[in-house]
Amino acid sequence: MERIDKILSNLGYGSRKEIKTIVKKGMVEVDGETIKDSSMQVDPEKCKIHVNGKEVIYKRYIYLMMNKPDGVVSATYDNYDETVVDLLHPDHSVFNPFPVGRLDKDTVGLLLLTNDGELNHRLISPKWHVDKVYYAEIDKMVELSDVEAFNKGVILDDEYKCLPAKLSILEALSEGSKVEVTLQEGKFHQVKRMFESLGKKVTYLKRIRFASLDLDENLQEGEYRELTEEEVNILKSI
Ligand code: URA
Repeated sequence: MERIDKILSNLGYGSRKEIKTIVKKGMVEVDGETIKDSSMQVDPEKCKIHVNGKEVIYKRYIYLMMNKPDGVVSATYDNYDETVVDLLHPDHSVFNPFPVGRLDKDTVGLLLLTNDGELNHRLISPKWHVDKVYYAEIDKMVELSDVEAFNKGVILDDEYKCLPAKLSILEALSEGSKVEVTLQEGKFHQVKRMFESLGKKVTYLKRIRFASLDLDENLQEGEYRELTEEEVNILKSI
């Protein structure tokens, strides 16, 4: 049970004070009865709520897939830079979603946002080894010895030994290479640091898959969409 003013306010119907006013005006109905008290406790999963004659579609959680653009930080607030949350429409930002893990400011691609703390925790917990797949461009020729090094576990600058990772070479030229990297962990700047340990530099990085979900090709950079129920269920079953 939750207060009706809190429910409606969280769904973007206005501040608690504004909800109090519309309740006083007789504009809010619960199960067909006009209510008088904006502090009334209701079960939003079970009750039918109408505001101004229109049914309120209740949802507690929101799940978004974004194609994160370059130059935007994966945070809810930043003093200097635009954040991924700044790119959301008020209909979605009213749910206060936050990014699931982080992509660097200059990394593009698949970023999930949600306000479901439990799912977030599960997806970013090192315990669950959730797959993350990146397309990367590298400044030099990537060789089979690099594939083997990824496979064994690259040792980073701080002596951390990465879990075995899959490196697939898509194109290897002396002036630069294209690769795909699959990681089961998410250390700070991990892909860039793995290549740095092998004397190479990542010049472009895009996440194309996260936890069994592929980046929706219809999303341009900076665009996002809600996950389907099926996609949310896939994530929850991990
Ligand atoms: N690895 C990186 O180096 N950067 C990212 O944004 C993600 C993985």
